[in-house]
Amino acid sequence: MFDLLLRQCRLLQTDRTITETDIAIKGGVIVEIAPAIVGHAKVELAIQGQLVSPPFVESHIHLDSALTAGEPRWNQSGTLFEGIEIWRERKQNLTLEDVKTRAIATLKHQASQGVLFVRSHADVSESSLTALQALLEVREAVKDWITLQVVAFPQDGIYGAPQNNALMEKALEMGADVVGGIPHYELTREDGVNSVHRIFELAQKYDRLIDIHCDEIDDDQSRFLEVVTACAIRTGMGSRVTASHTTAFGSYNNAYAIKLLGFLRRTQINFIANPLINITLQGRADTYPKRRGVTRVKELWQQGMNVSFGHDCVQDPWYSLGTGNMLDVAFMGLHICQMTGTAEIDACYDMITWNGAKTLNIEDRYGIEVGKPANLIVLNAKDRYDAIRCRAIVEYVISQGKLLVKTEIPRTIWHGY
Ligand code: FE2
Repeated sequence: MFDLLLRQCRLLQTDRTITETDIAIKGGVIVEIAPAIVGHAKVELAIQGQLVSPPFVESHIHLDSALTAGEPRWNQSGTLFEGIEIWRERKQNLTLEDVKTRAIATLKHQASQGVLFVRSHADVSESSLTALQALLEVREAVKDWITLQVVAFPQDGIYGAPQNNALMEKALEMGADVVGGIPHYELTREDGVNSVHRIFELAQKYDRLIDIHCDEIDDDQSRFLEVVTACAIRTGMGSRVTASHTTAFGSYNNAYAIKLLGFLRRTQINFIANPLINITLQGRADTYPKRRGVTRVKELWQQGMNVSFGHDCVQDPWYSLGTGNMLDVAFMGLHICQMTGTAEIDACYDMITWNGAKTLNIEDRYGIEVGKPANLIVLNAKDRYDAIRCRAIVEYVISQGKLLVKTEIPRTIWHGY
């Protein structure tokens, strides 16, 4: 007797082929994948040829600021820097309950749309470390249905205020999973370089991953990615390192960018682009032509680098929109990055699934295979292209072997000619 049996799935396998099969789950684990499995289950779902995929991975979000748009005021300029100013005011009023309530509400929005793995940044530039403490408590509270990684993120810079460096270290002692940074927002270029060295030092001391907000600016002279690359090469930390945003990479001249790509190939660092947010934040000082404000996603992908897409913000001072739907993110990403070839569209789907799992260093427990934890989603779609094109509804979300969410598919009734 199985716990859960899914009949007639179109299973998107780890090698990206699709096979028609049943899937049996017991004790939170996938125990059999085969056509017409013999046996019964406590719950049996008729999937009827819909796409069964590993869950979506949200590799970059700020849960501490989610659902605060308009508090205390709206971002009228639409810039990153007005967003940071507004957040500086809003975070004076943070309480544990405030952050936890908004974070869990956002995670529920995400999970109901198929996201079961999340990496969230927590601002640690504020002396009480309320945002971090709250997200660490949320990580524990939700662990039975969603996996949350927390990044110690120095929003105002590691050297932007006297206490920030010590706060970073305290955040890691408290249990943050990942060391963050923001070198382009440090007071000087030298501070930015030093901050990257400090991040690697802390990550090695505490055995943590790294995820740096890197060069999230239109300035073509913002070149901290090369510092991250050098540190990754020298430390050998490669796949444990992520460069988020890197929007300036889109503004570098080709001579420099091509040289940098060569260095990047010597690392295995991960990239995260956040197309919903950066298409609106960046290029604000441009007249025309306006830049797109995303990193070189297509070129990095073509070079075999691991690139994932993140949502970044949901209704906060930087982006007042957003629902937590990762298919919206992939849809926007493929447009901005001009990835409309069939292989490119499929790659954009991978950027919200497998590539995100690689960034989070959770590949060993990700994917629909016998013996792996039973985390999967059922989409009202036939394949990856169809899922992105239609922003397909996730009908079932199965987390750790249990049915977590069912969403009814809307039905259109045509009464005309
Ligand atoms: Fe971010």
